[in-house]
Amino acid sequence: MTETAKAVGGLRNVAVAESGISSIDGVRGILAYRGIDIHALAEHSGFEETFALLHDGKLPGRSALAALGSEMARERALPPGLLPILEAMPRSTHPMTALRTAISALGPFDPDADATPAEALLRNSRRLTAQMALVVAAIDRLRNGHRPIAPDPTLSHAANLLYMLRGRQPTASAALAMDVALVLHADHEFNASTFAARVAASTLADLHGAITAALATLKGPLHGGANEAVMRTLEAIGTIERAEPYVREALAAKKKLMGFGHAVYKTEDPRATHLRRLSRSLGEEAGDTRWFVMSERLESVVKAEKGLYANVDFYSASAYRVLGIPTDLFTPIFAVSRIAGWTAHVREQLAANKLIRPEAEYVGPSHVPYVPIDKR
Ligand code: COA
Repeated sequence: MTETAKAVGGLRNVAVAESGISSIDGVRGILAYRGIDIHALAEHSGFEETFALLHDGKLPGRSALAALGSEMARERALPPGLLPILEAMPRSTHPMTALRTAISALGPFDPDADATPAEALLRNSRRLTAQMALVVAAIDRLRNGHRPIAPDPTLSHAANLLYMLRGRQPTASAALAMDVALVLHADHEFNASTFAARVAASTLADLHGAITAALATLKGPLHGGANEAVMRTLEAIGTIERAEPYVREALAAKKKLMGFGHAVYKTEDPRATHLRRLSRSLGEEAGDTRWFVMSERLESVVKAEKGLYANVDFYSASAYRVLGIPTDLFTPIFAVSRIAGWTAHVREQLAANKLIRPEAEYVGPSHVPYVPIDKR
């Protein structure tokens, strides 16, 4: 190691590369994609437009957006060879494990899999983004003993996702809520899974490999897996009355409460503001505000007792629950959105590539003599 290099726990406050894709101000609670505030995007944008923004650096015009929408709808197809791979997995396989395996398995079927020329890489990014939603829906259908539902090319990415999962056209408000959730989750600077994707890409590994690395990283409950963990907590609490005592007991026992705290935000995560709103309105529309009210109680105690704010995963749990999404699909749904950012980051990495290879601060013994095996 270099004499002066000192390890920084969790690489906090270390900038490992320049990036022009998204930025966070953790103190003021600001997130922007390509300089556009997430609040404006949550209010006005949709997933396809956000994909274009992340990839192209600017909002698309009307015809460019329509062309992207048609291309992504055309790319809604899975190679027939993939389904037997999904079917071969035990039904108990966690959908994130199945998704990670499936995305890796899509590589050999993809005509552009090893593509590095810029055009092919962009085409492949769009295709893989379109396919990710199909894979998630297929995993859920197959494990429940049903055939996957054919995608509807007339629907937006978000509406089609709900349609393929639930087998019926979503209401306008459900489709809008899903679209906003996909916009909010699409990118988040150098989070752990994006970093994993960029590390893999920096070795000139292929896109499917980089996205597989990202999926493996997203699964953990300290990262994307937190939304599922939040729902498990709400399910364990069960009733609104139990929320306060539950959280006080958990904090007294020094347990971590999933969906709170953030490595970068020291104030409210701006995405949580919108997910709280969606969780409330979806609950009211469905006549089931139990999960939302329970979440609110939890949030106020954790804020008062620990000064911790809800993060993106906290209210997405109750919102997805009301949308009828199975709890163990919450993290795969996160991936359906985040692949927009992952692929943009892989392209940015490759456009000015330098192998990511940090150093360790060695703290082990040195000058240790080798002892022959019969003398140990
Ligand atoms: N519940 C209870 N306490 C928490 C907490 C949580 N969710 N998040 C942080 N803390 C506490 C820690 O116990 C620690 O307390 P201590 O100083 O008394 O030991 C302090 O806050 C700092 O925690 P730390 O884990 O070092 O903060 P971090 O900034 O490195 O971690 C996370 C950020 C996201 C890993 C952390 O907040 C966490 O584990 N949250 C839950 C998982 C989650 O929701 N992840 C999704 C993130 S979008």
